[in-house]
Amino acid sequence: MSAPEVTVVGGGMITHDQILPSLWQMQRGGAIGEIAVCALNGKPLRELAASGTLKRAFPASRFHPYPDFDDDRPQPGLFREVIGRMPARNVVIVAVPDQFHYDVIRAAIEAGQHVVSVKPLVLKHSQAVEIEQQAHARGLFVGVEYHKRFDDRSLIVRRRYRDGRFGEFKLGTASLLEKWYYRHSNFQNWCTAENSDAFAYIGCHYVDLVHFITGLLPVAVSVYGLRDKYPNGNEGFLWTDARVIWNNGACLNVQNALGFPDDAPGSNIQGLSMYCATGDRGAWIRHDDQYRGMQYVYTASSGDPGSTIYHEPSTEYFQYLDLGGEGMTPVGYGLRSVDALVRAAIDVEQAGSLEHRQRALRQIDETGILATPANSRYNELVMEAGRLSILNGGREAVIQYEPQPSVQLRQY
Ligand SMILES: NC(=O)c1ccc[n+]([C@@H]2O[C@H](COP(=O)([O-])OP(=O)(O)OC[C@H]3O[C@@H](n4cnc5c(N)ncnc54)[C@H](O)[C@@H]3O)[C@@H](O)[C@H]2O)c1
Repeated sequence: MSAPEVTVVGGGMITHDQILPSLWQMQRGGAIGEIAVCALNGKPLRELAASGTLKRAFPASRFHPYPDFDDDRPQPGLFREVIGRMPARNVVIVAVPDQFHYDVIRAAIEAGQHVVSVKPLVLKHSQAVEIEQQAHARGLFVGVEYHKRFDDRSLIVRRRYRDGRFGEFKLGTASLLEKWYYRHSNFQNWCTAENSDAFAYIGCHYVDLVHFITGLLPVAVSVYGLRDKYPNGNEGFLWTDARVIWNNGACLNVQNALGFPDDAPGSNIQGLSMYCATGDRGAWIRHDDQYRGMQYVYTASSGDPGSTIYHEPSTEYFQYLDLGGEGMTPVGYGLRSVDALVRAAIDVEQAGSLEHRQRALRQIDETGILATPANSRYNELVMEAGRLSILNGGREAVIQYEPQPSVQLRQY
């Protein structure tokens, strides 16, 4: 497989903001071939094709829409047909709401496709185990898109932590609050109290990152959530405060919300502080992940949701640069993450026989830079524990790894 076909299932915000432009950039460089996008109906596909940002950056790029642009009948099962029509051992990217990841990933593996899924992989640990086993048996790559891992600062701190420069993690605080306008998006139809919550949706990034930096495993989670109404009347846990205990006794507090003011200057607020120590000395890590040092005052706001006259743009996640040539060139850790995952699928495929592909998969699992079902299953346990806790008023849920991984409310 030199230039695989790629089918993206899901045509929403993350496909627009990160997945599709990353794939188009890879296609420009010849790394991948044809791109298809399958959504529930034609509306999000029309919006993708009409996006001014995407047109300006990729004036000549196209995707195959499933269903057709003008077909507005909901077709929840169409992805199976689209994946089924692909030649085996190409790539499926899963970008549907969290609770549908499992079905799409299973369909892709059964059709013999390599898979890249947006986070969280799935909502249950047992599903992650099953996916890992099924994919490994067929020599297929499954990667989870935790793009914060590809922010250079995450890789820098990981190396220094693992070199022993900070001693051991003790206490930490992380926050990621998206802007208020998110409540008006399609989230209000699926990110509701019975399916998800602000911690499950965005808190998982920093839980994954603390493991990525330290190698520690989460062993207990309590999540306090405030129910709030979306504009359409649906109810969600739109404000959450979580406490995650790690297997060395360390404690990470994680605050998340769809509630950062639209009038605030960045696209969100996010960051991580970690207090660490050796026996006789303290150490400190602090990443301001929103404010990257740029301050602009425009003559007027752009009018886009959450845009402001005073603006602190983030240079790092996903930006378009005019480097000459056709359109614009995307840069940032969002691009690097998709690129690394799709290239891993290509590398596994190029390893050849089933045995060689399985060896390549084991190597990726062990290296631990790309998140896979085998090396990041603690995230599914945190998902399960977090949901159990939030639905029980914030009671602590305990994660056990032995003899069988499981989650239960702490008994007193
Ligand atoms: N920071 C991140 O890593 C990040 C950010 C945003 C979203 N996400 C994840 O991406 C996923 C999608 O989020 P989003 O913001 O794009 O959501 P969205 O609501 O904007 O889009 C969801 C898309 O899924 C499609 N869809 C739903 N059911 C389908 C089906 N049966 N077949 C085909 N398509 C179907 C819809 O048509 C829509 O295009 C979620 O899992 C979310 O957690 C990750």
